[in-house]
Amino acid sequence: MTILDGKNVSNDIKDEIAAEVSKMKENGEKVPHLAAVIVGNDGASLTYVGSKVRACERVGFESTLIKLPNTVSEIELLDTIEELNQNDDIDGFIIQLPLPPQINTQEVLMAVDPDKDVDGFHPTNFGKMALDMSTFIPATPFGILELIDRYGVETKGKHTVVIGRSHIVGRPMSILMGRKGFPGNSTVTLTHSHTKNITQITSQADIIISALGVPNFLKAEMVKDDVVIIDVGITRVPDETRPRGYRITGDVDFENVSKKASFITPVPGGVGPMTIAMLLKNTLLARERHSKL
Ligand code: GUN
Repeated sequence: MTILDGKNVSNDIKDEIAAEVSKMKENGEKVPHLAAVIVGNDGASLTYVGSKVRACERVGFESTLIKLPNTVSEIELLDTIEELNQNDDIDGFIIQLPLPPQINTQEVLMAVDPDKDVDGFHPTNFGKMALDMSTFIPATPFGILELIDRYGVETKGKHTVVIGRSHIVGRPMSILMGRKGFPGNSTVTLTHSHTKNITQITSQADIIISALGVPNFLKAEMVKDDVVIIDVGITRVPDETRPRGYRITGDVDFENVSKKASFITPVPGGVGPMTIAMLLKNTLLARERHSKL
C-alpha cells in the first residue's frame, strides 16, 4: 500500500511555483496577484482562505483578502466582483463558498471574468473543461489529477466510482476521469444520494473518489482488494482531546480500508493541501495568460 502524500507533493509544487516567481522577478516581470473574497465568519471558510493567502506569501505571489459581512447584499458583492474584474493588477480571484442564503451563488459565479476565474467555476470554464479545451480546472479535481499523475496511478480502462455530485468536486471529477488521455480513459460511475445499493457499485470499483462529507462512510467491506482510494472528505468532528476541540475526518475508514488498498490518500495531508497548490498553479497560469493580452 502506498500513501498518496498530498502534503509532500504540494510542497514540491509550491517549490516549483516559487522558482518560477523568482525567474519572473529577475526578469523584472510582474508577479501573480490572487484576490480572495470571503463573506461572513464561517470558521472553516476563514481557515481555508487564510491558508490560501499564506500559500501566496510562501511562493512570492501578491495577495489581497476582501472580507465582507454576512449581511452583504448580492448587489454589493456583484459590485466587488466587477471591481476585481476591472482591476488590471489582479490576475485571478476566488469567491470562497458557501455564500449566505440571501445571495444567489450561481449569479455570483457567473459575474466573475472567466479569464480571472482561477477556481474554474464559471460555466464558460466548466464547459471548456468538459470539451477538453485549455482552461482553469477546479483546484480540488486538478489536485487529484496531479496526485494520480505524480504517483503514476493507472486510470486507463479502470472503473472509477465517484461518490457525490457537487459542482466543486464530484461532477467535474466524473467528467475528468472519463476524458481521453492520462489521467482519464476511465469508465466512470457517478453515485449520489439517490443511488441504490452503493456497496454493489463501490465493491466493483478500481478507483474510488469520495467527496461526500460523511465521516468514515466508506468501510473495508465496501471495497475490493487493491482499490485506489481518493478521500476528499474534510469534516470537523468534535474531539475534546484536540487543542481546537475538533479533528478533521475523511469519508473513508482509513484504518481498515488502507489494509486492502493499493494507493490511498490520508486525511489530513492528502487532497486538502493539493487544492491550495493547484489554486496557485491556476493563478500562475492566469498571470501568464494576462501578460500576453
Ligand atoms: N469552498 C469549498 N471548496 C472551495 C473551493 O475550492 N473554492 C472556493 N472558492 N470555495 C470553496
